[in-house]
Amino acid sequence: RRRIAVMTSGGDSPGMNGATRAVVRMAIEKGCEAYCIYEGYEGLVQGGKFIRKMEWSDVRGWLSEGGTLIGTARCMAFYERPGRLRAAKNMILNGIDALVICGGDGSLTGADKFRHEWPGLVDELVSTGELTTEQVEPYRHLNIVGLVGSIDNDMSGTDATIGCFSALGRICEMVDYIEATASSHSRAFVIEVMGRHCGWLALMAGVATGADFVFIPEKPRADNWKEEMCTIVARHRQLGKRKTIVIVAEGAHDQHGNKISPEQIKDLLADKNGLALDTRITTLGHVQRGGTACAYDRYLSTLQGVEAVNAVLDATPTTPTPFIAINENKITRKPLVQAVEDTKEVAKAIEAQDFDRAMSLRDTE
Ligand code: F6P
Repeated sequence: RRRIAVMTSGGDSPGMNGATRAVVRMAIEKGCEAYCIYEGYEGLVQGGKFIRKMEWSDVRGWLSEGGTLIGTARCMAFYERPGRLRAAKNMILNGIDALVICGGDGSLTGADKFRHEWPGLVDELVSTGELTTEQVEPYRHLNIVGLVGSIDNDMSGTDATIGCFSALGRICEMVDYIEATASSHSRAFVIEVMGRHCGWLALMAGVATGADFVFIPEKPRADNWKEEMCTIVARHRQLGKRKTIVIVAEGAHDQHGNKISPEQIKDLLADKNGLALDTRITTLGHVQRGGTACAYDRYLSTLQGVEAVNAVLDATPTTPTPFIAINENKITRKPLVQAVEDTKEVAKAIEAQDFDRAMSLRDTE
């Protein structure tokens, strides 16, 4: 019976447990044995108790749990060849030849490299006498499938990453709370949201809450951003608004690449010679990432987890490593390497201030 393992890696995101549950159950449903690698790549390198066989009931109730119950870690050892060699040995000793990884683009790129390096790692395990030819023979090829788990929604080639809609919902809920106190005092709030180099969370939260002004990395503000923001906020105030909400992505910067910080925005809104608004800063931080998954992330992770197992079972040694995407509401398989390259190109295009290219690359199907 084939043994399929699932692992979560990088920053946790709501829905990762749904993905783990779906992979475990679909693997069992298809007559395979299911394994979980605990603590991400660290568990793969350590082996032993970190690699556990899972039964159907082991993942009961996981859909409604936040974070990742099998843990995640940033593993330095896996960046080095000896670490990957140990990981390969642990997989072979456990009879695992297929790995489904739920993580961000960095984790998935690492997985693809591991797959390409695999034949060489196996040869080395034999030549150094760690394993015998008979032991490695059934494991000449490694099968990898990616699931994109990240709150940032920063991966090209998919409309949504597992976790982004939960984080967006949480941000909107928090902005609603802030609005109540803001309008009570007629205050302004600068709210910093996560997203790393991606402005999706900030932009969508701005639209969904009707924020006065939004800063995102994909659209660095021109030199007149201060006047622009103050003019808009002043107009909204004249229209009778008792609250001002400015949402700033953590990666926001101006056209010269200088970070636009919440403090800078606050000072401007509070300037006694200008708007003179009583202003506070709220950095939402990890509440955006923790907590339970919303309905969308529960079903997205479930459907994608099921498709990941199908992709494992369909794969041949020459199939390019796929990741599971969603495009226009359909679950799809896409080449992982292409999507990772496009994601990197987006960052480069933003740096070069070619925003049309950045946007079109993000939309790439
Ligand atoms: O990638 C997810 C994310 O939450 C980003 O939005 C944020 O920049 C980063 O991870 C925070 O990482 P850490 O939890 O290691 O502080």
